[in-house]
Amino acid sequence: MNNLPIEWLENRVRILDQTRLPHEEVYLELSNYQGIASAIVELKIRGAPAIGILGAYGMALGALKIKATTRDEFLEKLRDISQALAATRPTARNLFQAIGRMEQIAEAGKDIEQTKTALVNEAVKIHSEEAEATKKLSQLGAGLIGDGFTILTHCNTGALATAGYGTALGVIKQAKEQGKNIKVFVTETRPLLQGARLTTWELKQADIPFTLITDSTAGYFISRGEVDCIIVGADRIAANGDTANKIGTYTLAVLAMENGIPFYVAAPTTTIDLSLASGDEIPIEERNPEEVTHLQGVSIAPEGVEAANPAFDVTPHHYITAIITENGIIKEPYGEGIKKIFRNLSP
Ligand code: MRU
Repeated sequence: MNNLPIEWLENRVRILDQTRLPHEEVYLELSNYQGIASAIVELKIRGAPAIGILGAYGMALGALKIKATTRDEFLEKLRDISQALAATRPTARNLFQAIGRMEQIAEAGKDIEQTKTALVNEAVKIHSEEAEATKKLSQLGAGLIGDGFTILTHCNTGALATAGYGTALGVIKQAKEQGKNIKVFVTETRPLLQGARLTTWELKQADIPFTLITDSTAGYFISRGEVDCIIVGADRIAANGDTANKIGTYTLAVLAMENGIPFYVAAPTTTIDLSLASGDEIPIEERNPEEVTHLQGVSIAPEGVEAANPAFDVTPHHYITAIITENGIIKEPYGEGIKKIFRNLSP
């Protein structure tokens, strides 16, 4: 990677366009919140933590451009911006967490110009805190990976998805940095192939041996005893530990339990949504069916067929061996463990 996946450059943001990877490394400079909202919708930046960070920069860029004479007028215009950004992707908790933090800063401000500066500073802070959190959780999680392990992972959860170190892929990279001899099975992650396009690209850069498989091949290798553990990221974790992640994650969790191997979820605390009692309440993004009937723009099904395309599924907490966060590794009972983490965080 020649530059960081997301970088703040005074009054604009530079992003690495993930839709062009792995064959082209193209960077885009965005100078308004509309461009940021489109980049999120079009998956130029994706992965819950990275979406949250870019959303915060979107609020900052939007605020810088607001022309208002009163504080109320400024706040009203900023609300329109936060609504536009919040409407981009409904499942990633980190987006709403970051937008909420930015709104609090705006509401606490008295002077418009000072508030604009405070919003830029807050977005930069959100970015560095998220990056630090993913580094720390990766270090904690690497303790669960044994020397000689073969690990199966789904979707893309590395530097690209976090604009930091990574979650599931961060744990894998950290295990390698600790000198452990590891191998990885990468699921291609239909329909948009984040595993085949992005995780393989990152693993190559980290010099970690891997084998790319189709999503439906996972059970074959797991049942033959060739996988020691599964580790995935998360888009939203409810208060009881139920976890929404890329479509296909639930299937992997059931396979892990059936075959007696651990199933780990790695995510920063900002992915946990205490306001939702269980995974039933997590909003699931429905994407364009064309992503299923077409593969990278090429039609693979008869014209006009009906297709369903939920982007995420929910894994009930009892399938999860542990949730790895920067504030500790949580196990059953998840409700208690999650509450404890938030209790320790409150001032
Ligand atoms: O649709 P995507 O590519 O944004 O989905 C990404 C995932 O599901 C990741 O596993 C999740 O966001 C965690 S990323 C650290």
